[in-house]
Amino acid sequence: MEFVTYETEGAVAVVTINRPKALNALNSQVLEELEATFDAINLDEIRAVVLTGAGDKSFVAGADIGEMSTLTKAEGEAFGKKGNDIFRKIETFPIPVIAAINGFALGGGCEISMSCDIRICSENAMFGQPEVGLGITPGFGGTQRLARLVSPGMAKQMIYAARNIKADEAYRIGLVNAVYPLEELMPAAKKLAATIAQNAPIAVRNCKKAINEGLEVDMDQAIVIEEKLFGDCFETEDQKAGMGNFLEKDKEKKLKVVPFQNK
Ligand code: CAA
Repeated sequence: MEFVTYETEGAVAVVTINRPKALNALNSQVLEELEATFDAINLDEIRAVVLTGAGDKSFVAGADIGEMSTLTKAEGEAFGKKGNDIFRKIETFPIPVIAAINGFALGGGCEISMSCDIRICSENAMFGQPEVGLGITPGFGGTQRLARLVSPGMAKQMIYAARNIKADEAYRIGLVNAVYPLEELMPAAKKLAATIAQNAPIAVRNCKKAINEGLEVDMDQAIVIEEKLFGDCFETEDQKAGMGNFLEKDKEKKLKVVPFQNK
């Protein structure tokens, strides 16, 4: 891989988009390497992923403008599909993905962060969908996910005006869950990922599926999705051990960390 690095720490994986000369902008090669990296994650071992950008200035400064500048209509649509397919893969990835946003998250950068389950950022982060200034629409999910994540009115204002916002405003509108000094961002992301990784993996995966799939349908259908995924947890080793430990009268055992299984 030239532009994506992959590291693991216990059950946590860190995927880093590493093209600092272009502020980690997403060209076709970066998108392909990202897809291959996610495809290769060993889901028997890894329970949470942190996605970040290399350097201390930019998470991802968008799709590659040079590459897009000569595209035909058909090629533009295909490029949009390429980005959308990999971002949807991240969104529906079986385990949680945390975006650790360490600087610019513009265009495709804001969009990839929105395909993650959780966004936290550094104080120098900046978010925006500047596409209309370039003569295009957001093309990697921005028109859809921003309106769902913040509010349609706020999303429309940001997108129509191509208005970038700083970390504190991203926090205020609920685009990110927390803001950290830059040097504290990765430790915080890894700590959160490790906390998630300590919990029962089947239950965590089923929560992600229930929340994501439930948001796409009406409440009557959504609660049926929840019921099925709730039921699916029973008879697993984790459910038996998790509840068994709680019911143990022995305080030591009751408090001990359950070595959760993936089955
Ligand atoms: N595509 C290609 N190259 C990019 C890039 C991008 N999106 N963003 C930055 N770069 C490159 C610059 O061309 C520059 O390269 P050179 O050194 O070879 O000239 C290098 O990264 C450093 O960038 P700057 O010199 O511009 O750095 P700066 O600190 O002055 O400005 C910035 C930083 C404000 C992020 C500025 O680079 C910028 O505005 N970038 C473009 C942001 C943008 O419009 N993103 C949206 C892209 S469209 C999109 O993403 C469509 C979609 O939805 C799919």
